[in-house]
Amino acid sequence: MKLKIAVLPGDGIGPEVTNQSIKVLNCIADKYNHKVDLTEGLVGAIAIDEYNDPYPDSTHMLCKNSDAILFGAIGHPKYDNDPKAKVRPEQGLLKMRKKLGLFANLRPTIIFESLLEMSPIKEERIKDTDILFVRELTGGIYFGDRGRKNNDNYAYDTCQYSREEIVRIAKIGFEYAKKRSKKLCCVDKANVLETSRLWRETVQSMEKNYPEIKVSYEFVDAVAMRLVQWPSSYDVLITSNLFGDILTDEASVISGSMGLMPSASIGSENALYEPIHGSYPEATGKKIANPIASILSLSMMLDHSFNLKDESKIINRAVEDSLTNKITTPDLNKYNKSYTTDEVGDYIVNFVKNN
Ligand code: IPM
Ligand code: MG
Repeated sequence: MKLKIAVLPGDGIGPEVTNQSIKVLNCIADKYNHKVDLTEGLVGAIAIDEYNDPYPDSTHMLCKNSDAILFGAIGHPKYDNDPKAKVRPEQGLLKMRKKLGLFANLRPTIIFESLLEMSPIKEERIKDTDILFVRELTGGIYFGDRGRKNNDNYAYDTCQYSREEIVRIAKIGFEYAKKRSKKLCCVDKANVLETSRLWRETVQSMEKNYPEIKVSYEFVDAVAMRLVQWPSSYDVLITSNLFGDILTDEASVISGSMGLMPSASIGSENALYEPIHGSYPEATGKKIANPIASILSLSMMLDHSFNLKDESKIINRAVEDSLTNKITTPDLNKYNKSYTTDEVGDYIVNFVKNN
C-alpha cells in the first residue's frame, strides 16, 4: 500500500519524538511491503521564524494532499511569557484543526500492566482502566468571539455550539461506544451553561438511534473528581473543546506518564495524529523525551487512516514489551538505568523487525 504522509515535527521535543516514529514507520514499510511517501512541513514557532505564520499555506496544501498527518508538538517559551505577542505558535495548531476540519479528537487513556506502580493513583483503582475521550475540537470557546473592550481593561471569550456540531461529535461517541462497552458519558455543565444544555438535549434526542447504548450525563466538575477516584468506571466520554482539553490532561497522569498518550484528530477528509504531551521545552535536545506517545500515535494512524491492523498491533506490542523490560526514558525510570529517546526508538524498531 502507498502511504502518503505529511510530517510536521514542529517545536521543542516534537522533532526528536517524531524521528522515532519515522524509524518505526520505515521498518513497518520494509516488513509489510508498503511504500511510504513522507514530506515534511513547518508548523508552530519554527514556521513563525520562517514565514511569520504558524500554519503557512504551503503546510496546509501539503496536509490537504496527504492521506494522513503525523504531528509532533507546538509551542515555545518565548511566547508563553509574552501575552501581548500577536502571532503565537498555538494559533497554528488551532488554524490547522479548523482549516482541515478535524472536529473530533480521540484521546485514549490506557493502562500498561507493567507501569501500574508509576501511577499516582492506587493500583486497585486504576486496574482495567480503558477510557476513550472524544473531544470536540473545532468549536466552543476556542473559536467563539473574543476581544478586549474599555481600553483593554475588559476581555471576553464566548462559547458557542450549533446542534450540527454536537450531532457529528456525538455520532462518533455513539459509534465507539457501540464497538466498546456500550457505555457513553456526556460531560457538560448543563446546570449553568446554555451550550451544555444544547449538548444534553441533542445527545438525548439521539439516544433512540442507539438503543443498545447506555448514556449517562455528568457535570464536568464531578467527572474531574470521579476520574481520579474511579477511572475504570468510565468508557467513552464525549465533551466540548475546553472541557476535553482539561480532562484529557488530568486523565493522562493516570497511566503514569503523559509521555505515553497518543491522539488522533479526525475530520471528514483528513486525520492528524499527535502525542498529547506538547513541546516540553525544558527537555528539548536532552535526549530524555519519551517517544512512546508519538509511536502510539503512528499506530493509531495505521489503524484509523489505513486500516492496517497487523501493523498497528505489532507497534502496540513492541511498546508494551519495551515497558515490561523497562527500556524507558527517565520519566518512567526513576530508579533503574534509563534510556535515551533514540535507544527506546531503536528497541521498538528491533522488536517490530523481529516479531
Ligand atoms: C492540546 C493542547 C492545545 C489545546 C493547545 C496547545 C492549543 O493543549 O492539544 O490539548 O488546548 O487544544
Ligand atoms: Mg491540552
